[in-house]
Amino acid sequence: NNMLDWQRTAFHFQPKKNWMNDPNAPVFYNGWYHLFYQYHPEAPVWGKIVWGHAVSKDLINWRHLPIAMETDQWYDEEGVWTGSATILSDGQLVVLYTGSTNESLQVQNLAYPADPSDPLLINWVKYPGNPVLVPPPGIDNDDFRDPTTAWKTPDGKWRFTIGSKINKTGISLVYDTEDFKTFELLDQLLHAVPGTGMWECVDFYPISKLGENGLDTSVDGTGVKHVVKASMDADRNDYYAIGTYDAYKGKWTPDSPTLDVGIGLRYDYGIYYASKTFFDQNKQRRVLWSWIKETDTEASDIKKGWASLMGVPRTIVFDKKTQNNIIQWPVEEINQLRTNLTAFKDVVVEAGSLVPLNLPSASQLDIVAEFEVDKKTMELLNGADTSYDCAKNGGAVQRGALGPFGFSVLANEGLAEHTPVYFYVVKGVGGNLKTFFCVDQSRSSNANDVDKSIYGSIVPVLKGEKLSMRILVDHSIVESFAQEGRTCITSRVYPTKAINNNAQLFLFNNATATKVTVSVNIWQMNSAVV
Ligand code: FRU
Repeated sequence: NNMLDWQRTAFHFQPKKNWMNDPNAPVFYNGWYHLFYQYHPEAPVWGKIVWGHAVSKDLINWRHLPIAMETDQWYDEEGVWTGSATILSDGQLVVLYTGSTNESLQVQNLAYPADPSDPLLINWVKYPGNPVLVPPPGIDNDDFRDPTTAWKTPDGKWRFTIGSKINKTGISLVYDTEDFKTFELLDQLLHAVPGTGMWECVDFYPISKLGENGLDTSVDGTGVKHVVKASMDADRNDYYAIGTYDAYKGKWTPDSPTLDVGIGLRYDYGIYYASKTFFDQNKQRRVLWSWIKETDTEASDIKKGWASLMGVPRTIVFDKKTQNNIIQWPVEEINQLRTNLTAFKDVVVEAGSLVPLNLPSASQLDIVAEFEVDKKTMELLNGADTSYDCAKNGGAVQRGALGPFGFSVLANEGLAEHTPVYFYVVKGVGGNLKTFFCVDQSRSSNANDVDKSIYGSIVPVLKGEKLSMRILVDHSIVESFAQEGRTCITSRVYPTKAINNNAQLFLFNNATATKVTVSVNIWQMNSAVV
């Protein structure tokens, strides 16, 4: 038994040991959810990557399966890298993935199930004609990777996109194909943003303007917008933007040039990278998977024998209220793990106070809370400068009139270790309010060799809305969602004392002026079977 075993999670997907990175080819096939993933079977550090494989009936409980694809061909000898699945019109499944060849050239390869009638998809065949794509003229050998799921063109072909760069401009190349063996590169790029560098793990999908249901990747037409996501190698964050897709040209244009890919919105303001969505035809929703890496040292990863998690899968819909962003929310199946509800209604937390919530245990929680700032205080307050930055303004200890307030999770007695998840509201000169959502890791651990950044961003709050947050706590990962999933923050934290039954939960209000009224439901979370 390993001293660091407590860091393993109870309801997050992770391999039994060794290294994991990107989710690959997530798909619902013959009654099973499949998750493939970048896996290094030899060590808890990145290396010669193969495709790990697991299946689930509910996206929460998983069964590990044998490695799906090994580095056994010259065209993927240095790694079976990231790829995506497409379900063809006759139900057949195909996968395109990037191979790092024996000369570390990035190429695209085709693979398919050896036995399409096997719902577990244990055995895979690599197409004998691989590689099916090599870097086109003008693209560097190591800037050509991570093909998306394909969607239909207006003339019935399949189309997909692959991230790359030209000089410092991040781009997304577009290919059309009828058989996934021969391809036509369009002159038109799907999109390009100067200064953003290499685009890894591009994702492209439609969302309904009504904010309901997910859409199959080929759906287009009135009432549909399209999202482009790219994982920016430059700062290791997943950026997305909402825009309009011109299917005839194969070109996508962002709704707002200031909210373009790489300069605008992020899926998550913490640790969240190389994510990928799929359309779940089982529940008519679009589901997002993401790699959550470690933020401790490689030496610690070697000590514990494993590295990385998958975030709890999230459903994605368009935010029809703001019309500006998507909404991400943990898949509903996670609720089946809830047990032992503790509820507080309209608790008043005075300015500058701390309320211990005295739970039997607080290392596996689902917290759903609403906060109300005092209206009188807010009205009487003079407006001020609304510039605030979670990371630069001192975190949870810097006090303002209307914040910070929220929860301290994974806290120990005396709060030597704790991780505050909070709102910070500021009132502008014109009376307008701005709300920020932050996670302060600076006191999350007594260890010195772990990341202690303060994360956060602004969160849109519409007139008449209460402030709301949801927090999933699972030993060494905290996933936080504000305003029903408009702004999300995932953090890895490594407490040394606030672990297992020694972890506690506190409610705090560090504002100087306002009291806050809080209603909260807190569930203990059962462990999933992984
Ligand atoms: C992103 C990434 C991909 C690549 C894979 C290799 O994390 O670098 O671009 O395909 O990981 O493991």
